[in-house]
Amino acid sequence: MIHIHPFPARMAPEIALKGLEGLPKDYVVLDPMSGSGMVLGTAAKVGLQAIGYDLDPLACLISRVNGRSVAAEKANNALKDLLSLARELDSEKVTLGWIDNDPATKKFIDFWFGSKQQKQLRALSYFLVERPFTKNSVVLDVLKVAVSRLIVTKEPKASFARDTAHSRPHRTITENNFDVFEALPNSLRHVISALRPDQIKQNVKSFRGDARRMGRISDHSVDCIITSPPYLNAIDYMRGHKLSLVWLGHDVGSLRNIRSRAVGAELVLDSKHDQEFSKFLALLHDDIDDKKKRILKRYYVDLCDLTKDAFRVLKTDRDATYVMGNSNVKGREIRNSDLLILAAEKAGFVVSDIKTREIPENRRYMPMKGSNQTALSNRMKQEYVIRFHKPAA
Ligand SMILES: C[S@@+](CC[C@H](N)C(=O)[O-])C[C@H]1O[C@@H](n2cnc3c(N)ncnc32)[C@H](O)[C@@H]1O
Repeated sequence: MIHIHPFPARMAPEIALKGLEGLPKDYVVLDPMSGSGMVLGTAAKVGLQAIGYDLDPLACLISRVNGRSVAAEKANNALKDLLSLARELDSEKVTLGWIDNDPATKKFIDFWFGSKQQKQLRALSYFLVERPFTKNSVVLDVLKVAVSRLIVTKEPKASFARDTAHSRPHRTITENNFDVFEALPNSLRHVISALRPDQIKQNVKSFRGDARRMGRISDHSVDCIITSPPYLNAIDYMRGHKLSLVWLGHDVGSLRNIRSRAVGAELVLDSKHDQEFSKFLALLHDDIDDKKKRILKRYYVDLCDLTKDAFRVLKTDRDATYVMGNSNVKGREIRNSDLLILAAEKAGFVVSDIKTREIPENRRYMPMKGSNQTALSNRMKQEYVIRFHKPAA
């Protein structure tokens, strides 16, 4: 399966497909942490209504595009128009407010991008964000994805960084001849071929916001939830995405704010949920230091808030499926799946099924250090697919 844009820790497509199998066509499917939109795109292709939430603006953009139907010809013609406008523009003479009026964003861009690529990206940003050159928002989104995938890459392309696609950008070059304009037509071709727009039967809705408080979704309105929350300590999604988002209208300060609201990110210890949390600590059979305890506690509180809001929006007698792996915090296995079950049961869910599956080699992202950790590293290669049921009251 080819994807429209790289994304770390994407859900395995067969999990999304299996979860959606046989659902009645009038069902509404929700992924509260939709990432690249694997669940939403799959739902759109089988003709189900799909709604997504995610904090990360790039995730929302990718999942919006993943679940929208767009005519290839329209997108190709729009790219021709965009490129001729961008080539004509002296991009140093226009103002991109979120960059030019913000020294921190400017400094960030100077660190990660060469002057040739800055000029080209400024011109593209001007016509995609500051003064959109078309009113067709779907086409604009598709073109933004085509630009972004030249920045969020494994090897340096539009930026000086490698490994941006894995959210671990390293500045490995300081001179760059890459031509963003020349590379764009190919990038768009890739997006369109991965999208298979002809297969999309329903458009998805994607909201940018916090899965712990999904204000746009009414109580008892959703028929099926399928999602994969971030694992504790696993990936800082925004770190790599920031390199692209600064060209899509976001300054580094606002991105820092968004990042601080990610599940597991806040380190505030409050007294909420103390009782159940101590049950979990007892399961660890070992002393853990206060710092680790605080990290775990924060994560658990987030899982409680996530499952509580999922319970609120789900209709009764319906299921919510969570895909969860375990984490390694300084050599200790943390059973995120147990924490999730505690949290979901507290919200009112009942566990109806638990399956474990091997995470394919190319989707593993928890580097294991040391040779004495074989048992632990074997367990880290598994993820849990846990189905919860919302019983009638
Ligand atoms: C494991 S990824 C989801 C991957 C997705 N299932 C896919 O197939 O691409 C977790 C997602 O949760 C999002 N996230 C983290 N904290 C969040 C929050 N508080 N509210 C909404 N989304 C959040 C991250 O931005 C990330 O996209």
